[in-house]
Amino acid sequence: MTRHYLDEHDLSAQEFLHIVQRGIELKALRAHDGDAMLAYRRTLAMIFTKASTRTRVSFETGMAQMGGHAIMLDPQRSQLGRGEPLSDTARVFSQMVDVVMIRNDSQADQVEFAAASSIPVINGLSERLHPCQMLADIQTWVEHHGTGDWSQRSAAWIGDGNNVCNSWINAAALLGFQLRIACPEGYEPDSEYLDRAGDRVFITRDPAEAMHGVQCVSTDVWTSMGQEDESRARETAFAGYQVDTALMQKADPQAIFLHCLPAHRAEEVSAEVIDGSASVVWQQAGNRLHAQKALLEFLL
Ligand code: CP
Ligand code: NVA
Repeated sequence: MTRHYLDEHDLSAQEFLHIVQRGIELKALRAHDGDAMLAYRRTLAMIFTKASTRTRVSFETGMAQMGGHAIMLDPQRSQLGRGEPLSDTARVFSQMVDVVMIRNDSQADQVEFAAASSIPVINGLSERLHPCQMLADIQTWVEHHGTGDWSQRSAAWIGDGNNVCNSWINAAALLGFQLRIACPEGYEPDSEYLDRAGDRVFITRDPAEAMHGVQCVSTDVWTSMGQEDESRARETAFAGYQVDTALMQKADPQAIFLHCLPAHRAEEVSAEVIDGSASVVWQQAGNRLHAQKALLEFLL
């Protein structure tokens, strides 16, 4: 059966952690070109209907490093923008390439695409989830604090209950750590993911309460792609939700700060925090490459 990665729950906890560990291994092997042939003569098709820097560069570079190739498509310069059905595109790709990555604003469309595809489909971000980001984020956390008993760990999410937040909820449900979310009323994450995570996740309006003793702190932009019309209202709603030095002091002294990037300094995070000693955002961004290479190897 063809495996897809549209949602963290498409993997078991064991598979998720295997990919994370393999990402760490591939990162070490990279120094010796040891991963060179893992996708030899394989092709990845990437569909982007939204902007990207990290996702595109990491997937394309990853395929090149593993001896394969990546093709980028967007709606403007392909038949996707002229109404060719997604299921037809999926059937065509299945005849030509080996794996597909999609970044769009419809998780439902990704599910529809995958249903018609006989090759693996990867979610490179939707309006609901960002599961590739989550592999890199957990890899980064493991690199700093090791593996061990996930049920004894906690992380904070401060800000918008958006796609990346939903993915953190799924990771908490899968691995069993506690996720403490602080978000304003009306900006909560999706109830479907919250319900599945049960008591592993709680929501508060108070960022200081969410930060209490956590080992990992994460945030994201207040206005995601496609929500630009709401940005004024969001700036008002999220006032008081900036991750700054005073807030970081509520976390564990060894806590790391993560941000999927791109970041807006002086909005969701102060410059002092993102450019400070707890911040591991550059390592986190780099881990997109290694984690996704491990994912591609697993799916291929
Ligand atoms: N974090 C992330 O997915 O970055 P891009 O939007 O640049 O791909
Ligand atoms: N929440 C952000 C993440 C970007 C990587 C967005 O969807 O725009």
